[in-house]
Amino acid sequence: MNKTHFCTCTDLDCKFNPHNHSLGCDLCIKKCLKEGEIPSCFFKAIHDDISETKDFTYKGFGDFFVKHGKTNEMIVEKISKEETWEIRHKVMWPNKELDYVKLKDDDFGIHYGIFHENQLVSVISLFIDNEKAQFRKFATMEEYQSKGYGSKLLKHVINEAKIQGAKTICCNARRNKTSFYKKFGLIETTKIFEKGGTDYILMEKQL
Ligand SMILES: CC(C)(COP(=O)(O)OP(=O)(O)OC[C@H]1O[C@@H](n2cnc3c(N)ncnc32)[C@H](O)[C@@H]1OP(=O)(O)O)[C@@H](O)C(=O)NCCC(=O)NCCS
Ligand code: SF4
Repeated sequence: MNKTHFCTCTDLDCKFNPHNHSLGCDLCIKKCLKEGEIPSCFFKAIHDDISETKDFTYKGFGDFFVKHGKTNEMIVEKISKEETWEIRHKVMWPNKELDYVKLKDDDFGIHYGIFHENQLVSVISLFIDNEKAQFRKFATMEEYQSKGYGSKLLKHVINEAKIQGAKTICCNARRNKTSFYKKFGLIETTKIFEKGGTDYILMEKQL
């Protein structure tokens, strides 16, 4: 009898449960391997309530994961310029016409985004001119801000610019965002300007 085992299985009547012997997980794993099953602790690691679960096979586990698993994985994907426009518009310039957020250089940019449950939630556009890179129109949907999407995109474009041979990367930062960019090694320059009622400062990083 081992009452302190970490096993999360609540079926204490099961003779394989480590609470009923001193062999730890051995008996349970042996039985699962023999019967092509996944131990209940793996189900509980995904979702605590397994009371409705009847299928402990590998397939059952896959189905359970699809239903209850929460993947926090943020995958940066290349997207089209058109896909960036809606978020740029909603987040950055909601009071202007949609055309205001379209850049004449958009065709020359590489556009990246992160999706959450098939919804695009964060975008950034990278422009590389020989050894100089610039990221522009960086925006995360308001309800998804401060969850790390922007940081993931920013790290990605800095890395991508370097891979593509750029020696510097810069951005025209809104004044209230400078401390955020400093975390990624961008440094304020002396170039300050105003556009559409917003103050900007050019920030730059050596790659
Ligand atoms: C700038 C912007 C794109 C950043 O996107 P984001 O997805 O919110 O970025 P992150 O979540 O990675 O980081 C935002 C903040 O949350 C923090 N953060 C990151 N992950 C976090 C997490 N898991 N939990 C809590 N905070 C977190 C970051 O440290 C950062 O803090 P800071 O603002 O104090 O420096 C977003 O704020 C935005 O769209 N702003 C409006 C448009 C704009 O200003 N664009 C930039 C023009 S220069
Ligand atoms: S493998 Fe079996 S015995 Fe071990 S923790 Fe998981 S359910 Fe419990």
